[in-house]
Amino acid sequence: MIHKPVALERCLALLTPSIERSASPIVVDATLGMGGHSEALLERFPKLRVVGLDRDKEAIAIATSRLERFADRITVIHAVYDEIAEVLSELGINGVDGILFDLGVSSLQLDHVERGFSYAHTAPLDMRMDNSTGMTAADLLSNYEKSQLIRILKVYGEERFASRIAENIIKARASGSLKTTTDLADLIKASIPAPARRIGGNPAKRTFQAIRIEVNQELEILKRALPKALNITKVGGRVVVMSFQSLEDKIVKAIFQEASESKSPRELPVEIEELKAKFELVFRGSEKASEEEIKENSRAQSVRLRAIERVAS
Ligand SMILES: C[S@@+](CC[C@H](N)C(=O)[O-])C[C@H]1O[C@@H](n2cnc3c(N)ncnc32)[C@H](O)[C@@H]1O
Repeated sequence: MIHKPVALERCLALLTPSIERSASPIVVDATLGMGGHSEALLERFPKLRVVGLDRDKEAIAIATSRLERFADRITVIHAVYDEIAEVLSELGINGVDGILFDLGVSSLQLDHVERGFSYAHTAPLDMRMDNSTGMTAADLLSNYEKSQLIRILKVYGEERFASRIAENIIKARASGSLKTTTDLADLIKASIPAPARRIGGNPAKRTFQAIRIEVNQELEILKRALPKALNITKVGGRVVVMSFQSLEDKIVKAIFQEASESKSPRELPVEIEELKAKFELVFRGSEKASEEEIKENSRAQSVRLRAIERVAS
């Protein structure tokens, strides 16, 4: 299935002032995916150059071919988005007008059953967004200690029954019965008391989310990447982020808040020029998708969109 870009028109509208004020605008699509947002940006703004990053080689291949007609205006790079500064510096770019982060997994990753992201299909326990490198979900489930498993299930999955699930993981790995996504989903179901299973959707959802976050180091990378992204944004440029779960959104909120606060001591009658905030929130809080969009695209249901603009160098 083609990935339907979330909040597409809103993202374009938020980036428009930053793109239109520049004679040769550059936008980084930090999560290129299947290139939906980039395609719309390149179509809408004929002078725009896009640098598209993704850590998934499959996504890179699909986006490259989809965006072939814009080959002279898009540079597609296989990279993790916390490498954004290094990637731009290698391209000789020292500031950009916009950066878009559309966080999380794509429909492509979820639909390709063998990638192991889906608890609804049987596949090897992989869950790596870049399946050419790093620890798989199977590695994590074989090697993490019980206390580490409990921590990630609690913190990243907000799972109430983390201890019981972790205990059963340890037992299952001793008996060699934890090989596929279905084995894991069944183990989770069996670890959760029947009354709790009836509420809150599929009980495997939270544990799969937690393992995916840990395997891909999603939150740590986001924490490193956002300050770098702000740093390379030019005055008048904007950073737009779409999060799909509350842990990500909390990180975005905190980093944007920090960047948009004056560092002048409050007790002073006037603000010290050099300590004034270099960024302003484009709107307060976060935005959700419209009801119409959610009806057409269920992925839009959980989106929280935030945007910030650099106002001083
Ligand atoms: C929601 S999809 C993006 C969809 C895209 N906007 C579109 O319209 O087709 C998120 C993409 O970000 C990539 N991704 C997630 N975390 C990443 C990271 N830390 N560095 C680079 N790419 C990442 C995933 O591999 C996935 O392809």
